[in-house]
Parts: sequence; C-alpha cells; structure tokens
Amino acid sequence: MIEAGKYTSHQIRDIYSRRSRIYRNTVAPLEFSNHLRAIEKAAIRPEDKILEVAVGPGLAIAELAKHVSQTTVVEGVDISPGMLAVARETLAAAHITNVNLSESSATSLKFPDNSFDLLYNGYMLDLIPLADMPVILAEFRRVLKVGGRLVLLNMSKPNEQTTTFRERLYPMLPPELALYLIGGCRPVLMEHPVIEAGLRQVTREYLAGKFPSEIVIGIK
Ligand SMILES: C[S@@+](CC[C@H](N)C(=O)[O-])C[C@H]1O[C@@H](n2cnc3c(N)ncnc32)[C@H](O)[C@@H]1O
Repeated sequence: MIEAGKYTSHQIRDIYSRRSRIYRNTVAPLEFSNHLRAIEKAAIRPEDKILEVAVGPGLAIAELAKHVSQTTVVEGVDISPGMLAVARETLAAAHITNVNLSESSATSLKFPDNSFDLLYNGYMLDLIPLADMPVILAEFRRVLKVGGRLVLLNMSKPNEQTTTFRERLYPMLPPELALYLIGGCRPVLMEHPVIEAGLRQVTREYLAGKFPSEIVIGIK
C-alpha cells in the first residue's frame, strides 16, 4: 500500500463538505452497486444495531436502514458537515426516518464500548494515512459488541504485487491536488490490518470492474 497524501483532517473535512453535492451526483451512484454487494454480505438482521462511519451523501445508510425494523435506529457519522447535510436530503427524499446522523471522527467515535452489532465503513480508509489505520480499526473494534461484524468497502487492487495507474500518479501530485482531483483516495488492502486489529474469521472479496474495490469482513 502506498502512503496517503500529507493533508490534515481539516482539509479532508473542507474538501468533502464543498464537494458533497457533486460527489452525490457523480462518484456515489457509480460505486453504489459495490455498496449493495457489501450490504448483502453484512447479513443484517432486523434488530441489529448498526453504525455507519463516513456516511458521505447517505446512499449506503439509506439502504442499511431498510434492512432493520422501523423502530431500530441506525447511527451514522461523518466529519464533513456538507456530506451530513446531503445525507439528510437523501434520507428525506427516501422517506427514511430511522437514522440518526451526527458529526464524529473515525479516530475518536463518540459511542460507548460494545454498542453495535454491525459497523459499516465505505470508501474512507483509502484516504487515511497508514499510521492512522490501526487507531481507527481499534476504534471500530471498541464500539462493536462481542460477535459484532465489521464490514469495510475500500478502493483496492487485486493484491500487493500489483501497482495500479492511480498508485503511480498519486505520489506525483501535490497532496492538495490529490485531495481535490481524486478525493485523496488510493487502493488499500485491509485484510491483514483487520486481522492485526484483533478481528477473527476475516474474509476478503475483491470486486474488479470500473471501481476496483474490496469487501473485508471481520468478527469481534
Ligand atoms: C470517498 S467519501 C465516501 C463516502 C461514502 N461512504 C460513500 O461510499 O459514498 C469519504 C468520506 O469519508 C469522510 N471521512 C474522511 N475522514 C473521516 C474520518 N476521520 N471520520 C469520519 N468520516 C471521515 C469524508 O467526509 C467523506 O464523506
């Protein structure tokens, strides 16, 4: 895996807030089928307590909310107020009322230990610096109940030996430009970090196609 650009979380918050509506109408619909596959693999039960971290424009959380009972509230967080505003619009348009959205960072989630049956996180770790990944995975593990599932959907590549065009381009761009042009995202491989974070029965499915991605699932 290559390192992420050296931009701050303030810069991430700012750029994703400003581009939230464009993101909603361009990238998000193209990646949606990958979310549907990840959500299918999450094997959600109607009573599951779910947290989505990095809800973005809210397409995935709208889908997650349809899989639980109407009285079960799905929690969703993001660091970008602009994304949260667009996510609220997405949910309102779909008449979904069992979702609670709030601002919180993956590095320090505002929920108690052992709170959730499922933690869902899509296309966020691919813009996170390598050093922050263990911190975030420990935080994901902390808020999961014992037996709870972690489901990650990331921009990825077939294996470590492969070097993609994006990986060659990314280090050549100034960090601000990488963030602006390609959202700061590069392919990641999260299976081993998830094992190292102490999750068990870890599986990885590689999704080839226009947006090569991986679904990594682990159990606490
Ligand atoms: C590429 S978008 C993906 C959004 C959404 N999950 C999707 O698949 O459409 C990345 C999202 O991660 C959010 N994000 C980045 N760093 C974060 C952090 N530390 N904590 C929570 N959200 C974060 C951004 O604000 C943005 O909404």
